[in-house]
Amino acid sequence: MNFLSDRLGFGADYNPEQWSPEVWRDDIRLMREAGVTIVTLGVFSWATVEPEPGRHDFGWLDEVMDLLGAAGIDVSLATGTASPPSWLSRRHPETLPVNRDGVRLSPGSRQHYCPSSPVYREAAVSLAVQMAKRYGAHPALKLWHVGNEYGCHVQECYCDVSAGDFRDWLRERYGDLDALNAAWSTTFWSQRVTDWADVLPPRTAPTLRNPAQELDWRRFSSDALLACYRAERAVLQELTPDVPVTTNIMGMWEPVADYASWAADFDIVALDIYPEPKDPAAHIDAAFFHDQMRSLGGGRPYMMMETATSAISYRPPNRPKRTGLNRLWSHQAVARGADAVMYFQWRASAGGAEKFHSAVVSHGGSDNRIFREAAALGAELATLSDVAGGRVPAEVAVVHDYANWWALELDARPGELRIPERVRAHYAPLWHANVTVDVVPPEADLSAYKLVVVPNLYLCTDAAADGLRRHVEGGGHLLMSFFSGIADECDRIRLGGYPGAFRELLGLRVEEFWPLSDGERAGLSSGGSADLWADHIVPEGAEVLAAYTGGPLAGLPAVTRHAYGAGTATYLGTRPDEQAMRDLVADTLRLAGVAPVVAGLPAGVEAVRRGSRLFLLNHNDHPVHAAGADLAPLDVAVLPLRHDPAKGA
Ligand code: GLA
Ligand code: GLA
Repeated sequence: MNFLSDRLGFGADYNPEQWSPEVWRDDIRLMREAGVTIVTLGVFSWATVEPEPGRHDFGWLDEVMDLLGAAGIDVSLATGTASPPSWLSRRHPETLPVNRDGVRLSPGSRQHYCPSSPVYREAAVSLAVQMAKRYGAHPALKLWHVGNEYGCHVQECYCDVSAGDFRDWLRERYGDLDALNAAWSTTFWSQRVTDWADVLPPRTAPTLRNPAQELDWRRFSSDALLACYRAERAVLQELTPDVPVTTNIMGMWEPVADYASWAADFDIVALDIYPEPKDPAAHIDAAFFHDQMRSLGGGRPYMMMETATSAISYRPPNRPKRTGLNRLWSHQAVARGADAVMYFQWRASAGGAEKFHSAVVSHGGSDNRIFREAAALGAELATLSDVAGGRVPAEVAVVHDYANWWALELDARPGELRIPERVRAHYAPLWHANVTVDVVPPEADLSAYKLVVVPNLYLCTDAAADGLRRHVEGGGHLLMSFFSGIADECDRIRLGGYPGAFRELLGLRVEEFWPLSDGERAGLSSGGSADLWADHIVPEGAEVLAAYTGGPLAGLPAVTRHAYGAGTATYLGTRPDEQAMRDLVADTLRLAGVAPVVAGLPAGVEAVRRGSRLFLLNHNDHPVHAAGADLAPLDVAVLPLRHDPAKGA
C-alpha cells in the first residue's frame, strides 16, 4: 500500500491553526515554489477541531484541505489525538499520567495522557471517527497519521487504572499466579504473590525492584501505547479502507517501545530523526536508524516523516546545519530506503515551546539560505522519481532487540553496558567498510544474510538461540559480543555455564566476567587493546584468534572462532579499540564473502545502492574523488548503477 511509489515525497508538518487564512495562501504559494508534494496536517489540532466535547469546528480545516488539494499537495492527515484539549484533563483528571513516584503530571505541555485510560482512548477514537467521516473522501487525503511519536514523553503510566490493565496483560501472558511467580523469580526477597491484587507496576520502592517485573512492565507499556494506535487505526480502516495508516516513530537512542512488535500495524513506516549537527558521527547513527526503519517494513520504502531543516531547539546550543548538510542528510535517507523527505515544520511558530526550532519558512520568511536550500532539494528530488519504490540490498544483518535493551540496562549487572554504545561499536565498522546492513530482531528469518552481527544479546529467547544456531549450521557466519545468551526472556539465568544459549555454537564456556575499571586497558595479541569487559573464556572447540597480553586475564583468550556446521561463529569476549574492531569486522566480512558496496572509497564517503542507483555521500569537509565522481564537501552524487546480479539490486 505505498501511495508514494511513483515519486519521492517532499514536505513538512503543517500547522495552519497557528496562522491566519492570509498566511495559508502565502504558505501554498511557497510550498509550490519549494516543490512540496505532501504535508502532515493538524498533528496538534485537537483543541482547535473540538473546542468543547462533541462540538467540532471543521471550517478552517475544510478550507486548508481544499487549498492543499487544489495545489496538488497530498495530505498525511493527523487524527489530532497527540495532545488532549484542556477540557479533557479538567473533566477527567484521571486521564493524566502518573509517574513512578506517584506524581500526577499536569496538562500544559503535550502527550499528557495515560495510555491505559479508557476515557482518553474513547475520546481519541471518537475524534478519529469524526475526522474519517469528514475527510475520508477528500481527494487530498493520502495517509492517516495517528497520534504523534507515541511514548516520546510519556512511555508509561503508574496509575491504578494502568495497574489493572497490567494485571490483565499478565493474566493473558501467564494464565495463573504460579506461572507469574515462577516467571518473576519471586522466591527471591519474599516477593511471592498470592492474590492478583498484590501485583503492581514497578513503582518507586526501597531498593532494586524485581527485574522480571520491570521487564514485563516495559513490554506491557509498549503494548498499551500500541493499543492506543490500534484503536484509532481500527476505526480508520473500517471507515476508509483504502487509505493507509501510520504513526511516526523515533530514530533515537531510547528504548521507548518495542517497534519490532509494532511494525506489522504500519501500512508504511514513518521515521522522525534529528541527527545532531554538532556531533561529527551523527550520520553514522542516522544510517543505523534508516536501516532499522527500512528493515521494520521488511525492506519496503519508508518515510522520513520529520527532520530539521537546520537547528533543533531542545539541545542547546542549537547549531544550524551548515550549507549542504540538510541536502546530504536528506539524500542519506533516500539512499537507505526513504520515499519521502519531510520536516518539522513548514513554518516556524511565532510562539510556543518550539519557536526556535528551524523550519522551511523561517521567522524572517523565505528570502534566506534555509528556504533556498530546501527549495533546491525539492527540485532535485523531483528529478529522482525512478528511485521511489527501489530496494536496498543487504547481505549482513545486525541484531537489535528491545527486550534485550531493557534487560541489559537494568540495575546490578556485572558491568555498565549501554545499548547505544554497544550497537554503535558494531555498526560503525560496517558503515566504515561501506557494507549495507539490515537491522533485525533476533528471531528474524536470517536465511538472506551471509553474516549476522550480534551485539551483546544478554536476553535471548529459545527461538532466537535456535535461529542463530541454524544460521551458522547452514553455512552462515556470526559475529557475537560478550554477555550474550545469558538470560531467558524472564531475566532468569540459563544455568549450566555461560553463555547458556550459545556454548555449543561458540565452542566455549565463560567462567567469570571481569569488567574492567574506567581507564583500565588490556593488550591484545592480535594488535591493539581492549577495555570495558573481559570474559574468562575456556575454549571447548573454538580456536583462539587473540589473547590478552595484559590485564586481569593476561594469557587467556579474548577473541575466538568456532567452525560449526557449514559456518563459523566468531566471539568477542571484550571491547576492542576502534581499529582492532574494524580489523576484526573486516576479517569476518572476508570470511563471509561480503564485499563493500564500492571498494576503495576515501574515508567518510558513504556508498549505498538503491534500485538502479548508486548514492555517494561525502560526509567530509573536503572534496573527494570517489567511484569516478568528483564530490565537493558535503556533496552527493546519484549515479546510474550497472546491474550486478550477484548483488540482486
Ligand atoms: C546485604 C543483604 C543481603 C544481600 C547482600 C548483597 O548484606 O543482607 O541480602 O543483599 O547485601 O547485596
Ligand atoms: C518531534 C515531534 C514534533 C516536534 C519535533 C521537534 O519530532 O513530533 O512535534 O516537537 O520533535 O522537536
